[in-house]
Amino acid sequence: MRAWMKLLSMLILLTGAALAQTPPPGAALFEQRCYSCHNVGDGNKIGPDLKGVTERRKKGWLQSFILSPATLNSQGDPTATELFKQFAPAIMPDQTLTPAQIDEILALIADLSQKNQNFAPTGAALSRAVVASDVQAGHQLFTGSKALSNGGTACISCHSMKDIGALGGGMLGPDLTLANARYRDPELISILRHPNFPTMNSVFGAHPLSDEEIVQLFALLQDARKTAQTTPFTSDTSDYKFPLIGMGTLVIALAGMNLTWKNRHRGVREEIVKRSKI
Ligand code: HEC
Ligand code: HEC
Repeated sequence: MRAWMKLLSMLILLTGAALAQTPPPGAALFEQRCYSCHNVGDGNKIGPDLKGVTERRKKGWLQSFILSPATLNSQGDPTATELFKQFAPAIMPDQTLTPAQIDEILALIADLSQKNQNFAPTGAALSRAVVASDVQAGHQLFTGSKALSNGGTACISCHSMKDIGALGGGMLGPDLTLANARYRDPELISILRHPNFPTMNSVFGAHPLSDEEIVQLFALLQDARKTAQTTPFTSDTSDYKFPLIGMGTLVIALAGMNLTWKNRHRGVREEIVKRSKI
């Protein structure tokens, strides 16, 4: 074989390998914009598992639904109405994407579904291994005793967690004690990296958590779940009288707050729906 032919075939092989390794174009978009609420193949999260959705639904419907679910719902589209009912109180916010970007995402979903593969986020690895001191550091970030480096709002203004802020933490977001049981590790890390829930996105979209903060908050969430399984209520002191006496009140208080939270949450969502209907 002539030298230039050898060179050419090597080049072709190399390009082929490079192409095979590049993630499909829709993957980054899906990870940043959709993955906090949707899996492809790993089951429902806040929104439905999108595996096979390109076969379940027509392309035109998917294009309009993804851009503005609330519009289709308010027009009485039967599929949209059914989905809204099934996933209430969650609602999918309108998306700012071009038709070409939506096509890229749909191509990715179609490809994964056809190959029977699940979506695996590439940016969902921690930047380093968790060490014991991370839990304490995460605690400081959660409560705001240490400020978030990019100016984000401390988690405690919207969330409670086990014994942190259980009686004083914000109630706009859910209690996070069992977040680590609700989500698999890559899902949870990805939420910290791209929290695409409307309320959280309004804060962290412009003020993302740093890699270091993600490790520390992840460590805290992991730890909260561990300790929550053995000690359901606060037991930092050796005095167990208070928990015993307070237990009943606490249960009632927590149940009440849970209700309040749900209602508030729904209130926010109704607002969002109302606004997007105008
Ligand atoms: C904040 C959470 C959230 C985000 C972010 C989100 N969705 Fe959704 N999605 C939902 C919910 C909830 C539903 C169910 C309908 C409803 O209640 O709004 C849904 C429904 C859907 C459906 C209909 C599924 C079916 O079975 O017909 C598609 C398609 C969809 N989403 C695609 C996307 C894509 C693509 C993105 C990213 C560009 C995205 N979603 C981002 C929450 C979300
Ligand atoms: C401005 C309010 C706000 C702040 C600040 C905030 N969150 Fe959230 N967060 C929310 C809301 C609201 C949800 C619920 C999203 C939904 O269900 O649609 C949420 C959801 C979550 C979830 C998913 C929980 C689940 O069970 O689905 C995690 C994890 C989370 N937040 C972590 C954090 C962490 C860590 C911080 C601090 C770095 C933080 N949040 C700061 C409002 C906030």
